[in-house]
Amino acid sequence: MAVMAMAAMAQSTCVLSKSSLFRTGFRCFPQFSARFSSSAATVASTLPSVNTLRRHKGRTTVASLVERGGVQIARDDVVRDEPTNNIPDTIFTKLGMQLHRRNQHPIGILKNAIYDYFDTNYENKFVKFDDLCPIVSVKENFDDVLVPPDHVSRSYNDTYYIDPQTVLRCHTSAHQAEILSRGHRHFLVTGDVYRRDSIDSTHYPVFHQMEGVRVFSPEDWESSGKDGTAYAAEDLKKCLEGLARHLFGAVEMRWIDTYFPFTDPSFELEIYFKEKWLEVLGCGVTEQEILKRSGNSDNVAWAFGLGLERLAMVLFDIPDIRLFWSSDERFTSQFWEGQLGIKFKAFSKYPPCYKDMSFWINESFTENNLCEVIRGIAGDLVEEVTLIDNFTNKKGMTSHCYRIAYRSMERSLTDDEINDLQWNVREQVQSKLNVVLR
Ligand code: DAH
Repeated sequence: MAVMAMAAMAQSTCVLSKSSLFRTGFRCFPQFSARFSSSAATVASTLPSVNTLRRHKGRTTVASLVERGGVQIARDDVVRDEPTNNIPDTIFTKLGMQLHRRNQHPIGILKNAIYDYFDTNYENKFVKFDDLCPIVSVKENFDDVLVPPDHVSRSYNDTYYIDPQTVLRCHTSAHQAEILSRGHRHFLVTGDVYRRDSIDSTHYPVFHQMEGVRVFSPEDWESSGKDGTAYAAEDLKKCLEGLARHLFGAVEMRWIDTYFPFTDPSFELEIYFKEKWLEVLGCGVTEQEILKRSGNSDNVAWAFGLGLERLAMVLFDIPDIRLFWSSDERFTSQFWEGQLGIKFKAFSKYPPCYKDMSFWINESFTENNLCEVIRGIAGDLVEEVTLIDNFTNKKGMTSHCYRIAYRSMERSLTDDEINDLQWNVREQVQSKLNVVLR
């Protein structure tokens, strides 16, 4: 979850709140559209020796190949010891997982429920793609969907780069232009997407999105008395309100005007669920430039993008985003193909353990880099990283104190284990991020 308004500003000013990105960059609750929903843009060049972030003493061996739709991806093609590569092994291993293609997994069940809605209402018109490779060019991920050259989402702090021209897609919109160019007029793209981010119960560096696109020709709207844009916007809202009712039942909804680089006008849909307004998706009428470049000059289209984890957490009552990656049977055995309404029953709550660490930061320090180091050591045992103190002394040196919550979803952690993790974290935060521990 999560490309772009004032992210730069948000990052530098809201030091004690979660970092954002797409609307203010990623504003997200769990990952999704916030990252792109702003025009403010500044690419912070926060590239420490990022490649060093992935080399940890005593790291366990990582598989050297993953399979993706019959194609094998070698670790060496993705994780490279070069300053322009910021992909850790923990991310490489996720490339083959494809949770959205598992029919008994909450993410797959939700994908199928959305497919059902489109199949029922549009008589199998929408072509579905769910096996497109997540390794895409910078052109596909950003340029083709008109993300400005200086937009914050392009920074090494926010996106995983294999090399300066190649990234792990940070949104399924990366495939829009290419599929349009191939002549498709109705399609859904589901896939895993990758974003560098901070750590809490709703943020994980890999999550899943679904993109939808529908193209109209002049004959579709001419008899309506509306112009193409108004016609598409109305159709879009009707379609997505129906989808929200299909997933959530008879809920109250509201439309919010927003900004995305790829659509104009742009909207977000919110639903009133469990006494809160919940952002469900981002959407809009596709920019003419995208249609023109894909050979659709006279046409008009709508597009939407939604974050599957965000919705699945609400629909299945899943309290922590790490659970989606659990292979513990007590999690996996609770869900059934085709059953959207099942509520997850927590199998146990193991106690969290908190450790604080303080250090003097330097100019290139970012919270995303810190979280990458911590995740590289503690993996999914780290539940949350929170900035709890922040001050600048008379000499202009800034100190941050972070509280790290360690907790397993599956078992109790021993004191020794946590002390070892924390010792390693302290050592590597110091050496990899060049900060001075206090
Ligand atoms: N790509 C956006 C994001 O990840 C989500 C999105 C918003 C997709 C609007 C769209 C759209 O196709 O029209 O933040």
